[in-house]
Amino acid sequence: MSKRKGIILAGGSGSRLHPLTDVSSKQLLPIYDKPMIYYPLSILMMVGIKEILIISSPEDMPRYKSLLQSGKKWGINFSYKIQNKPNGIAQALLLGEKFLKSDPCCLILGDNLFHGKDLIRALKKADEDISNASVLTYPVKDPERFGVLEKKNNKPFKIIEKPKKPKTNRAITGLYFFPKDVSKKAKKLSPSKRGELEISDLNEIYLKAGKLRVSELRKESVWLDCGTFDSLLKASNFVSKSQAKQKNKIACLEEIAFRNKWISRKQVKEIINVSSSSYGNYLIKVISSK
Ligand code: TTP
Repeated sequence: MSKRKGIILAGGSGSRLHPLTDVSSKQLLPIYDKPMIYYPLSILMMVGIKEILIISSPEDMPRYKSLLQSGKKWGINFSYKIQNKPNGIAQALLLGEKFLKSDPCCLILGDNLFHGKDLIRALKKADEDISNASVLTYPVKDPERFGVLEKKNNKPFKIIEKPKKPKTNRAITGLYFFPKDVSKKAKKLSPSKRGELEISDLNEIYLKAGKLRVSELRKESVWLDCGTFDSLLKASNFVSKSQAKQKNKIACLEEIAFRNKWISRKQVKEIINVSSSSYGNYLIKVISSK
């Protein structure tokens, strides 16, 4: 079990997915056979985090509450907090201050999908280091769209948000581990030129203090932010193909909860009883194989 609390940021405007996001929150759109938010949620569960805050907009919050409820069905405890306007990713740490009290945390963006063999190792390493902040980087073709991390003498040197001439292709992914002082540090931030509290600025504070650690995910791992039409389709195709090949589901929350021993066989059976899709059939296999 992790000592951390988790935050999933599932607000934003989703303007790049118009008109799909006109009446639906981006993070509720389907990625093949599950709502998008299942994927980042599965990552927090794999880290071993049971106390999770969901942040979303006033319009979308009722739908998250109706999908996720208390979290008991997965052995989790959800709290909910509204973000009135998309004022930036780092605002999550201010909105989450009361929830976090003074615990270390893991913040994940609600539209990020991670998968891969070296992921678990990277998560474990970042989770255990509770006195430093940690980020995961991933090699991308279009670093100018992201915050990138430059290194010097193999140490984190500089974070540059959307660099015009990137010196590295290592983008910082939407998964951040912070020590217990993060809300205090977030209070020092001021809005950027685009009027947002930037997560890169927050990470930069830790970097300057020598307290930012980096795990470099290999190219063979998968990181997708599902915020464009192409990446949305790519994510669904990836999940569909990968599940067919491996015969295992990605981000099956009941399976993770069951393997973590957070829920009983009886609880999984209750979900099977109300699921007539192949999702339910898969869960039958999960409880029969153990
Ligand atoms: P983005 O994809 O950068 O922004 P967006 O979701 O508003 O989409 P678009 O650019 O198409 O308008 O956000 C990354 C993730 O962070 C996404 O899951 C939404 C979330 N987010 C918030 O919840 N609140 C915020 O203030 C911001 C900036 C992002």
